[in-house]
Amino acid sequence: MAKDGEQKPETTTKNGETPLGKFDRRNLLVGLGGLYGAASLAANPLAFAAPATPDFKDCVNATEPNGTSINCCPPAASNITAYVPSAACVSRTRMSAQTFTTDSNYYRKYMKAIEKMKKLKSTDPRNFTEQANVHCAYCDGGYTQQGNPNLLYEIHGSWLFFPWHRWYLYFFEKICANLLDDDSFALPFWNWDDPTGMKIPNIFVNDPDKSPLYDSNRNPDHLPPTVINLDWSYGDPTVDDKQQIKSNLSLMYTQMITQSKTQTDFFGKAYRSGDDIVTLDGAGSIELSPHNVVHSWTGTMTDPNNPIDMGALYSAGRDPIFYAHHANVDRMWNIWLNQLGGTNFTDSDWLNSTFIFYNEEAKPVSVRVGDCLDNTKLGYTYEDVPIAWLDAKPTARAKARTLPSARDPAQVFPTTLEKAINVLVKRPKKSGSGSAEEILVIEGIEYDKDDVNASRPEYTEYLGNFSNVPHGHGMKVKTNRRFRITEVLKDLGVNNYESVLVTLVPKSGPLKINGVKIEFDSS
Ligand code: C2O
Repeated sequence: MAKDGEQKPETTTKNGETPLGKFDRRNLLVGLGGLYGAASLAANPLAFAAPATPDFKDCVNATEPNGTSINCCPPAASNITAYVPSAACVSRTRMSAQTFTTDSNYYRKYMKAIEKMKKLKSTDPRNFTEQANVHCAYCDGGYTQQGNPNLLYEIHGSWLFFPWHRWYLYFFEKICANLLDDDSFALPFWNWDDPTGMKIPNIFVNDPDKSPLYDSNRNPDHLPPTVINLDWSYGDPTVDDKQQIKSNLSLMYTQMITQSKTQTDFFGKAYRSGDDIVTLDGAGSIELSPHNVVHSWTGTMTDPNNPIDMGALYSAGRDPIFYAHHANVDRMWNIWLNQLGGTNFTDSDWLNSTFIFYNEEAKPVSVRVGDCLDNTKLGYTYEDVPIAWLDAKPTARAKARTLPSARDPAQVFPTTLEKAINVLVKRPKKSGSGSAEEILVIEGIEYDKDDVNASRPEYTEYLGNFSNVPHGHGMKVKTNRRFRITEVLKDLGVNNYESVLVTLVPKSGPLKINGVKIEFDSS
């Protein structure tokens, strides 16, 4: 195989063909591998895999959560060039959105940029609505996979989540900078992970009548001074702000540290050519929570069957706060790598995954995941702000409570969860016998827009919730939710027990669950 450095992204020529005709160069390289013998290929089925690639030529209508079809397609692209960032140094710093007052120059500048984007012709791919539609097309069925016309292409729910959104913001930011004629312009980040940022930042709620950063399609109960609940699920908290902040910090600790031990935990599962995103069940920890939660918490629910703007993926990019939300998600990637010892995948199918965007000059470019791994090469960095959750590890509640009665999962599942239930889940073998981590799996969760919840994030025993941002794939979704529990059981001092009591609590209407079990980490 060619070294990564030699591997050029796939480009499309004028007539829309790839330079090698129907044969992707990577497939050719893999094909040559076959000469070494069928046995080794059989031993490694992934040798045939290739990155999942969107079929940019064939954009079709996307689907809203209520089934309505919507055209999110960008203008047809004829001459797509490969883009590799050349910046060797940082020229712009993304600052925390809370630091900007509504009389700051930055606020005026950012408003100007968005206003200009909104005023561009609707045929200009840099137009604000067109930019929002880029997100819609990439996640609600606008594209199928190249070579697999029956499979939808999707940038959520897998290892594409972080890099795709990084590139998306990169070009959005470049477009702003270009319209302002100011290369130092950087997007703000909404640091919902810090107590100072746990409200919608003022610059997004100021001046409803005139500000292009204002969006009326937000949950009216969640405007400042309401403190965000990073564990929210279509129901509001009954705790005071101080407790809410504590709870949010613990949730951050859990998601960034306890539940992000491996690359797959953090980024999500591999998504390759031929994988079906609907059954992949591959979202990483941060994507699930708080990313999804911040979406649903911010968006409106005026029509429960069709949330809009931040509340649903097809429309999320229409709220300017989307880009500040995702700048913070992107910042989590940096924190995981630089402060928590995480590392990027080295899998060539990840590195060679390509996306197509329109750049600041309205020209279509193709970009590679492998070229966005270092933000300084993309010319930006983040303001260095304190990270309060680093020592907000959840604590154990008073022990020795009498156990509620609990049944064997086999007698209970499948069931529709209408009220909280307890099940006693047998551990396959106790932790400590070997290094494999124990994973609690909630199997076959079927939902429309529901979630599962128990206890609160500030307690060790609380594993997390299941939260989903409505998609428009028009399919009933069935998924699993996995939680790492080795450290949790240790912290609770119950490492020697043979079974674990699991409580499932439905937060918003009935939810079907097919089983609960404990298995060992296979990675
Ligand atoms: Cu592409 Cu926050 O979603």
